Amino acid sequence: MSLAARIADRIRTGGPMSVAEYMHLCLHDPRDGYYATRPALGDQGDFITAPLVSQMFGELIGLWMVDLWRQMDRPAPFRLVELGPGDGTLMSDLLRAARLDPAFGEAAEVWLVEPSRPLRDLQAHRLGPGVRQVDRLEDVPAGAPLLLVGNEVLDCLPARQWEWRAGAWKERRIGLDGDRLVFGLAPAPQLASAPTAAPEGAVLETSPAQEALGAEIGARIASDGGAALLLDYGRATAGLGDTLQAVSGHRREDPLARPGQVDLTVHADFPAVLAAARREGVETAGPSSQGAFLHALGLESRAAALGRARPDEIPRLARQVERLAGPDQMGELFLAVALHSPGLQPPGFGA
Ligand SMILES: C[S@@+](CC[C@H](N)C(=O)[O-])C[C@H]1O[C@@H](n2cnc3c(N)ncnc32)[C@H](O)[C@@H]1O
Repeated sequence: MSLAARIADRIRTGGPMSVAEYMHLCLHDPRDGYYATRPALGDQGDFITAPLVSQMFGELIGLWMVDLWRQMDRPAPFRLVELGPGDGTLMSDLLRAARLDPAFGEAAEVWLVEPSRPLRDLQAHRLGPGVRQVDRLEDVPAGAPLLLVGNEVLDCLPARQWEWRAGAWKERRIGLDGDRLVFGLAPAPQLASAPTAAPEGAVLETSPAQEALGAEIGARIASDGGAALLLDYGRATAGLGDTLQAVSGHRREDPLARPGQVDLTVHADFPAVLAAARREGVETAGPSSQGAFLHALGLESRAAALGRARPDEIPRLARQVERLAGPDQMGELFLAVALHSPGLQPPGFGA
């Protein structure tokens, strides 16, 4: 039975489901979920991410990691963790750039946190036998300092949606019209820290899963020391808006039309993620726009250095810089934040 049919059955027997529950099934159902079966990154796939736009992205993050490792007095060993490493490109570029300090690579235990089996295979193929692969961050053993990166991971963690109707927040739930999946509204409990008034029809999103990840990373850094860098498209300040989005073949689709066959995301809720981390006792930096962050790390100089080595590549490198950092491309929509031990100064976030 298809995932769509199984979701419909579940709604018939258990009633409408939350957007978060629907997202989780669509992305991670072990038999038919998008990440379990068909994650397709890159130009030929469903969507492209910054590491696939240019090697410079992962290289600059490698330099970011080395800088923090030195600020931490070069701990050995330490855990170099990537959340949701996709096809392994970011980690591969990061490790190559980090070779400027060979002791970093010797001290690093590389851990890839990846629930998707097909992507794990790609990562193992690209990165070789030295890396450790686990399903969840909690499977990475505690007890050593942590340097962590996650690009476009928060956006695939499930969110609930609430709609302001007739003076109250109602939860958006997914039900059935005949055999067709449709959005509906259900009475909601009092929402802590939600606006007490909003325009009719306004949508509020909350993501307990994103907040839990912020808290988990924060708690790890608070106990073991270190820093984390999270990049994603998302909101820099608390706000309203329906950001649930389905994408296939670089095109947007109806999120209810083909469950499991398309990528499904919501914006990262950076204010909530950072607040959850700070409650665990860490400090935070950002959000900064991805463009400002990459420029501060030396994007232009890196492009110039690569261009000197390969003058024929200069036009392509210029396009990559624009794609990663241009305000109309990924530069403004994507944001970077850091979670870190007190006393560390993550580069790229201004004075
Ligand atoms: C949009 S892709 C980004 C891949 C890669 N970071 C990049 O930038 O190319 C999302 C990644 O997060 C992974 N992912 C999804 N849910 C996750 C979770 N709960 N914890 C960790 N990784 C997750 C996916 O399998 C995939 O590797």
